[in-house]
Amino acid sequence: MTDIFDFGKKVDDYAVIGNPISHSKSPSIHALFAEQTQQSILYTAMHVDVGGFSQAVGNFAAAGGKGLNITVPFKQEAWALVNERSERAERAGAVNTIKIDNDHLYGDNTDGVGLVNDLTLNNGIDLSGKNILLMGAGGAARGVLIPLLKEKPASLFIANRTPDKAKDLAEDFADSGNIQGGGYESLADKQFDVVINATAASLQGELPPLPDTLLNDNASCYDMMYAAEPTPFMQWASSHNASKVLDGLGMLVEQAAESFYIWRNVKPETKSVIEKLRKKLDK
Ligand code: ATR
Repeated sequence: MTDIFDFGKKVDDYAVIGNPISHSKSPSIHALFAEQTQQSILYTAMHVDVGGFSQAVGNFAAAGGKGLNITVPFKQEAWALVNERSERAERAGAVNTIKIDNDHLYGDNTDGVGLVNDLTLNNGIDLSGKNILLMGAGGAARGVLIPLLKEKPASLFIANRTPDKAKDLAEDFADSGNIQGGGYESLADKQFDVVINATAASLQGELPPLPDTLLNDNASCYDMMYAAEPTPFMQWASSHNASKVLDGLGMLVEQAAESFYIWRNVKPETKSVIEKLRKKLDK
């Protein structure tokens, strides 16, 4: 049936679902992508109560919605809900992007590729042959492991406050690269070229216990969190002469760009969007 009010181009609906969601930057990022690539989309933020996730996705799909981003605390639930998953989503145990085709839900996870693209493409950090330290063994760490290992680092060590969680996670991914895990005390005799913070410590203004000898010359340090001020880990990295000290704002934009590509088959340019967000953050 033709809608007589549908004079212009059809607008496709997208949303990000989370709880809390009011501070999400995703609507602004996707609005900038849409403007830049001339895509007719509407992207909103949707607050969903815990327990109401699958109902909310069902309603959105039934109303003709084309795609969703999923954030805390629903990424694991989204993984369980979708009908099909990409390999990286399958291994991440979490879905942050859903493409809706009538009642078929395709789940992907763009967090890891977002991190890798920000490191490699935006910041010129080649990961192949490098010794990488990943701090944290929760959902955020698991979500980036496959894309990191695909870059073929010489080694990847997972350090965690609860050492057994790091060891278990490393074992789960042992088929995909040279990966080991342990507690922070096992870092005493190790040096790394790239150190990535995937813990929630920065959120609490805390820093995992790191030895002063941790960084190789020309090491890069990356905090997956971002804030107007450098996080405690970024401050530690600067005071230990890291050659690059980066926060997760670029990762946020890059994971969004990958979602946009999955939905629209168009790759937005990210540099100008990162710069705009950075300016807003600094205000
Ligand atoms: P997320 O989905 O953000 O990864 P999570 O699954 O709750 O959240 O995992 C949080 C991670 O941050 C864990 O690795 C946690 O360490 P534990 O497994 O030992 O709990 C880590 N973490 C949280 N607060 C921390 C702190 N103050 N210092 C060091 N690590 C911390």
